[in-house]
Amino acid sequence: MRIVKTRDYADMSRKAANIISAQIILKPDCVLGLATGSSPLGTYEQLVDWYRKGDLDFSGVTTINLDEYRGLDRKDPQSYYYFMHTNLFDRVNIDTARTNIPNGMELDEKKECDRYEKLISDLGGIDLQLLGIGHNGHIGFNEPCEIFEKETHCVNLTESTIEANQRFFETADQVPRQAYTMGIGTIMRAKKILLVASGEEKAEILKQAFYGTITPNVPASILQLHPDVTLVADKAALTGINHG
Ligand code: GLP
Repeated sequence: MRIVKTRDYADMSRKAANIISAQIILKPDCVLGLATGSSPLGTYEQLVDWYRKGDLDFSGVTTINLDEYRGLDRKDPQSYYYFMHTNLFDRVNIDTARTNIPNGMELDEKKECDRYEKLISDLGGIDLQLLGIGHNGHIGFNEPCEIFEKETHCVNLTESTIEANQRFFETADQVPRQAYTMGIGTIMRAKKILLVASGEEKAEILKQAFYGTITPNVPASILQLHPDVTLVADKAALTGINHG
């Protein structure tokens, strides 16, 4: 595991965007695994900026997102579909036919999960997977539980995640209770992983995830077993980790 310590959120975002840019430059037809949340927002902003300056070309890139709320329409401003389009896809020259997000409106769980898992395998796997981390150690929407889920599945969100994500909705009641997410196995099959984290409220969970026991109770802890993980985090998020 590599740890890249940054000054602050803006510095974290630029460094993470640099790593994604390098991936696109080295392999213009790469498959990028993408994430939502406030952590990667600045990274997307930076990528858009470099695209506008003519330094990045997304025309050959395929994307596959980690997760989506179940039951939210694409047009819903809280859907991850909407998030990805407004923050990245509609602002760069990506072919939207090559952007993939679980279909939250497909109520047949098995059908949707099988479709998504097959899609990733047909694409030849993920070259670089971008991740944030939840306060309880979730990655994608893999919540703490008894086992590491191998494949894309439908999850019941925990109360702490519903509470954390409530800030994007008017009331907690409006936060969907379920989501489709790539499994831990799906994420672990990505060739490279880039996790971004910012702020002292992520310090304790980062310490547990990267230096604690590997357990499905802290889903991100499995990343300790991945051969190519880069953590880009600001110094506030790294206060629990004694890193240079
Ligand atoms: C959500 C997403 C995760 C994300 C997490 C942390 O629940 N499903 O993919 O990593 O929140 O979000 P934030 O970056 O806003 O702290």
